[in-house]
Amino acid sequence: MTTAIIGTGGIGSAIARQLASGGETLRLSSADPASARTLAAQIGRAAVVAADNRDAVQGADAVVLALRFTVLKGVIDQIAGPLTGNLVVVPSNPLTLDAHGNLSRVLPEGQSSGKVVAGWLPAGARLAMAFGSMSADLFESSSHRSPERAVLFYAADDDRAGQEVERLVRAAGFEPVKAGGLEQSSRLEVGGDLHDLVVGPAEARSLVGGP
Ligand SMILES: NC(=O)c1ccc[n+]([C@@H]2O[C@H](COP(=O)([O-])OP(=O)(O)OC[C@H]3O[C@@H](n4cnc5c(N)ncnc54)[C@H](OP(=O)(O)O)[C@@H]3O)[C@@H](O)[C@H]2O)c1
Repeated sequence: MTTAIIGTGGIGSAIARQLASGGETLRLSSADPASARTLAAQIGRAAVVAADNRDAVQGADAVVLALRFTVLKGVIDQIAGPLTGNLVVVPSNPLTLDAHGNLSRVLPEGQSSGKVVAGWLPAGARLAMAFGSMSADLFESSSHRSPERAVLFYAADDDRAGQEVERLVRAAGFEPVKAGGLEQSSRLEVGGDLHDLVVGPAEARSLVGGP
């Protein structure tokens, strides 16, 4: 199947490499097309560079918005039409970096980034907050772990979004575990109790209170 990845920086390129290793076909775009071209050349035949963000979404079964939180809404507005009917996967943490290198949350404490992003999407788009719960290096080094896959947590309100993102998580070499609905997305973020955790399925399910 085909996934569009918009944003080919630190986490977007890691997601692209791992999805391609699991057999997914990719359509890539980034602000500077040279960045998407470099990544596509590295991945090979599984990846094509789209003309722009709207073109990336054409024909894709899912769209990963691997963007800084502060540019998400602008890109969603740009591609809103084609997003209708699609799975939208967002790994973004609601953080910004000041001139001194200090990170701060761009949303009030306790406000769910998943709920905020859901409010920006057009009707008919299905959201899963996923693929942002580990730093890019840890994500790549933990994928395809053997004998037991490592878990990648996600948050979604919509059951169909959950099924679709679980397929992508498996393609990337992880076992998916739902942390909860979108209101639980802060658990996946930097500073959240599930962030940068590399655990197997049994421990993961006990952490989220599942069977
Ligand atoms: N890096 C990590 O380890 C990591 C891990 C988990 C979650 N996250 C989260 O994921 C998000 C992205 O982080 P990152 O480290 O990947 O950031 P990044 O390295 O700065 O990459 C951001 C990407 O967005 C692209 N971009 C910016 N504006 C765009 C636009 N209008 N249209 C299309 N593409 C656009 C940039 O394109 P150009 O390259 O052409 O400028 C770049 O490829 C953040 O919210 C971060 O908190 C990051």
